Amino acid sequence: MTDPTAAADEAARAAAKALQESGVSADADTIKLLFTEARTHYGWQDRDVSEETLRALYDIAKMGPTSMNQQPMRVVFIQSEDAKDRLEPCLMETNRPKMRTAPVTAIIAYDLNFWEELPTLFPPNPAAQDIFKNNSTAAQVNAFRNGTLQGAYFMLAARAVGLDVGAMSGFDNAKVDEEFFHGTSLKSNFLVNLGYADTSKIFRRLPRLAYDVACQTL
Ligand SMILES: Cc1cc2nc3c(=O)[nH]c(=O)nc-3n(C[C@H](O)[C@H](O)[C@H](O)COP(=O)(O)O)c2cc1C
Repeated sequence: MTDPTAAADEAARAAAKALQESGVSADADTIKLLFTEARTHYGWQDRDVSEETLRALYDIAKMGPTSMNQQPMRVVFIQSEDAKDRLEPCLMETNRPKMRTAPVTAIIAYDLNFWEELPTLFPPNPAAQDIFKNNSTAAQVNAFRNGTLQGAYFMLAARAVGLDVGAMSGFDNAKVDEEFFHGTSLKSNFLVNLGYADTSKIFRRLPRLAYDVACQTL
């Protein structure tokens, strides 16, 4: 009888080899769409984002790597007027209209109890849970690190499905946590406005650090 784990390992190796040998790389338009021409947006067209698009976005973003496959990110899509009314007082004044006009604002949160899922998410180490169960510092560091990485994957995935994004950290995290996550193990990280941009609202591009400033080779 075939061992299903060994068969899955073999299939994964064959898929990785096929990808490597295909020589595929991102084309120039994809690099523009995700990075070099993409901008952070502050104004939005009056055009809805479908649930199908949000699901497609998440299904791409979830594939980005996290330590021990922890996947601590949790997302709350703020769409209704009622939910916007609850979020608005938590934001810096200048960020309120950006959220208000966006068809959807995602609260990118992380779950401090992400480790409860590890028996399913990381079966190679059946004791993985124990690393975090009684160590709230390790749980916090890992939830924040990997939840933030997933937030970045989320923004790039949004661009990949044709949405524009505008991230915001100008808000009171404690207030958002009280309003949306009271009595839970979830904590807010940052917000991402999502939709189809009103491109008239952006400013000139700000400089990026050069390779020789930001990078070194040892
Ligand atoms: C995590 C994060 C938090 C941000 N917070 C705010 C914010 O609170 N308000 C705001 O107007 N812009 C915010 N920004 C936007 C940044 O200033 C912007 O992404 C950056 O200047 C690069 O702009 P560009 O993508 O158009 O080149 C934030 C961006 C990120 C990634």
